[in-house]
Amino acid sequence: MSIKFEKVNYTYDIGLPSEKVALRDISHIFSDHCFTALIGKTGSGKSTLLQHLNALILPTSGKISIGSYIIDFSLEYKDGKVDERKMKRKRKKKLKDIKSLRKKVGIVFQFPEYQLFEETVLKDVMFGPKNFGKSEEEAKKVSYEALKQVDLDSSYYERSPFELSGGEKRRVAIAGILALEPDVLVLDEPTVGLDADGEKNFLNLIKDIYSRGTSIILSTHNMDLVLKYAENALLLEDGKIVLADRPHVLFKNEELLKRSVLRKPKVLEFADELIKKGLPLNVENIFDIPSLAKEIDRCKR
Ligand SMILES: Nc1ncnc2c1ncn2[C@@H]1O[C@H](COP(=O)(O)OP(=O)(O)OP(=O)(O)O)[C@@H](O)[C@H]1O
Ligand SMILES: [Mg+2]
Repeated sequence: MSIKFEKVNYTYDIGLPSEKVALRDISHIFSDHCFTALIGKTGSGKSTLLQHLNALILPTSGKISIGSYIIDFSLEYKDGKVDERKMKRKRKKKLKDIKSLRKKVGIVFQFPEYQLFEETVLKDVMFGPKNFGKSEEEAKKVSYEALKQVDLDSSYYERSPFELSGGEKRRVAIAGILALEPDVLVLDEPTVGLDADGEKNFLNLIKDIYSRGTSIILSTHNMDLVLKYAENALLLEDGKIVLADRPHVLFKNEELLKRSVLRKPKVLEFADELIKKGLPLNVENIFDIPSLAKEIDRCKR
């Protein structure tokens, strides 16, 4: 399922002293099976954009097509002026089928622990499928499967989600979304607060979910993650997209990196030093330490 943004703008607190433009003229297509990383300085609009992906936030203007769902707030004109009455009606109209849209695009927030609320892990994961009309038995079946996908075995089923570690809580929150069998999984800074091992396991889990056919759209400040896992990087600057390309293209652009205060992945910095010393590495083949080792090996042959 692809997601298309056309000239999307979003302003918080319109008309109040705290009014803040958070997205400016965003046009982008998230392709059918994508792994896209949203990056950019704090306050650049990443979380705001992510929340548009399943209509948690509706655009102030512009159009978003999520599969066959259309959210259209493009301006209507009458006698050469914006027709405010028509716009008001358009905004008020409830998005049809918003529930089934939320089934197709699942969001895991920055602090997923706030998403958990049932007394046991199993009940928490079953909540979504039951809410979408599955019987108790069917809901159990998809929940067992989802918990298996996130590597939580049956010893977790009856535990309280609130007694788990941060990493485990995140897994439960993801299982709750996977149990709905979504086309797209959206994650807002998924690795914040995890230790090195927890982060690695968690990213491998996300990679697995992606390779089973679910699109991944996430925001992150972790450039090693972007290089290793993402197929596309979307760089935001003050609510605008300034680059949408492969991570390698971004990491070659020293000026953009500097402007957005992004650190080049260590593995690419190391590769740059080796290239300066005369090793003809092809950086396009480098994503992490093993691929760097392979590239060095290729050059020495
Ligand atoms: N609920 C809100 N009300 C008013 N302004 C908001 C709200 N949420 C975000 N903003 C503002 O909108 C802009 C974009 O915020 P957003 O949270 O999307 O940034 P971000 O890129 O996710 O930042 P971070 O990396 O810190 O998570 C910021 O200037 C922020 O202050
Ligand atoms: Mg954010």
